[in-house]
Amino acid sequence: MRPYSPGLEGVIAAETALGFVDGANGRLLYRGYPIGQLVEHGTYSAVAELLWTGEWRPDARLTTAPIPGPVMTALRALPPTAKPMDALRTAVSVWGATQVLEWPPTPEQARAVTSFSPSALAAFARLRRGLEPIEPDPALDLVTGFLTQLNGERPDPATARALDAYFIVGAEHGLNASTFTARVIISTRSDIASAVSGAIGAMKGPLHGGAPSEVVEQLHRVGTPEHAEQWVREALDRGERLMGFGHRVYRAYDPRAAALRKVAESMEHKPDWLDLAIKVEDVALRVLAERHPERPLKTNVEYYAAAVLQGVGLTPDLFPATFALARHAGWTAHVLEQVAANKLIRPDARYVGPAERDLPV
Ligand code: ACO
Repeated sequence: MRPYSPGLEGVIAAETALGFVDGANGRLLYRGYPIGQLVEHGTYSAVAELLWTGEWRPDARLTTAPIPGPVMTALRALPPTAKPMDALRTAVSVWGATQVLEWPPTPEQARAVTSFSPSALAAFARLRRGLEPIEPDPALDLVTGFLTQLNGERPDPATARALDAYFIVGAEHGLNASTFTARVIISTRSDIASAVSGAIGAMKGPLHGGAPSEVVEQLHRVGTPEHAEQWVREALDRGERLMGFGHRVYRAYDPRAAALRKVAESMEHKPDWLDLAIKVEDVALRVLAERHPERPLKTNVEYYAAAVLQGVGLTPDLFPATFALARHAGWTAHVLEQVAANKLIRPDARYVGPAERDLPV
């Protein structure tokens, strides 16, 4: 009997040279480079190119792309109550129907979908508020363009830089569920738009798409720094989980949280609750360690992602779709890696149904 691993836990299902998630030591490397250095010295465009091509080109530049007519028609047809993740998944699907996406997928195709999606999300976010979408400005880099198309005004450079840092830390994270989905889809010789729209569908689930908006709600419940200690202790006594702490892989401080904390602290428009967040983090780490010294629970990426996303002015319901925009680089890099040595991904299931029997005729 071959072993069955529920959730494929512990199963090596691919080889990758893209992201190395070193949970025991709290390290995340993209093609060998530590995430902290990439955030400090890189841009999302350079990091995306690194993932796609393996080359470090700090001056690489992506811009947002125009939205094809049929995509705009589809976005206009959606109800304003549609979830931004649904709108983004739909937009990528319609976009794919307007493109000639030949096999095998190329870095050019990866650039095209990564440049298209921010325009689509910004357009939907405006349409649902009764506002007209804004055309991309090719003079702006991808993240500045996204914020401009979303808000109708150019962000200050510090704000754009903060969101760019968030995009870098969100770009890639090994063989997570959505990335695996993208690889499965492309392994059938489908196309990059199908792989990305499938990946968005996988990321939409609450077990994957992250909890930054819950971190915001948690801080609202804490209220004030003076109340932090009592709130944390009472929440743990009630058996609740502290949002933004713990991780399946990282047993040490999540290196993405460390990079984003630095960014959040240096932001011009810090959310007014950042000081509260820092206080709650100090208390939470102390109390979690005190209660279970044998079980390390440290800050995860979502904690400071919330600060950065709120600080750049995004509403919490846009957080998951913004995470999806950032992950386009990783999804598409995995697509390229998969097709470079393609083998159809087709695991087996163990049959546990009835033995052969006759129909009751
Ligand atoms: N607060 C308090 N206790 C916790 C927390 C937490 N944040 N996280 C885990 N624990 C406790 C659990 O209650 C459990 O205790 P028990 O054994 O006494 O029942 C123990 O630690 C182990 O928990 P698991 O669920 O087995 O840990 P796992 O590694 O599967 O969970 C997860 C990881 C889901 C992230 C968890 O830590 C959690 O729920 N955190 C809060 C939500 C959150 O921040 N999510 C975003 C994660 S970042 C990301 O996924 C991109």
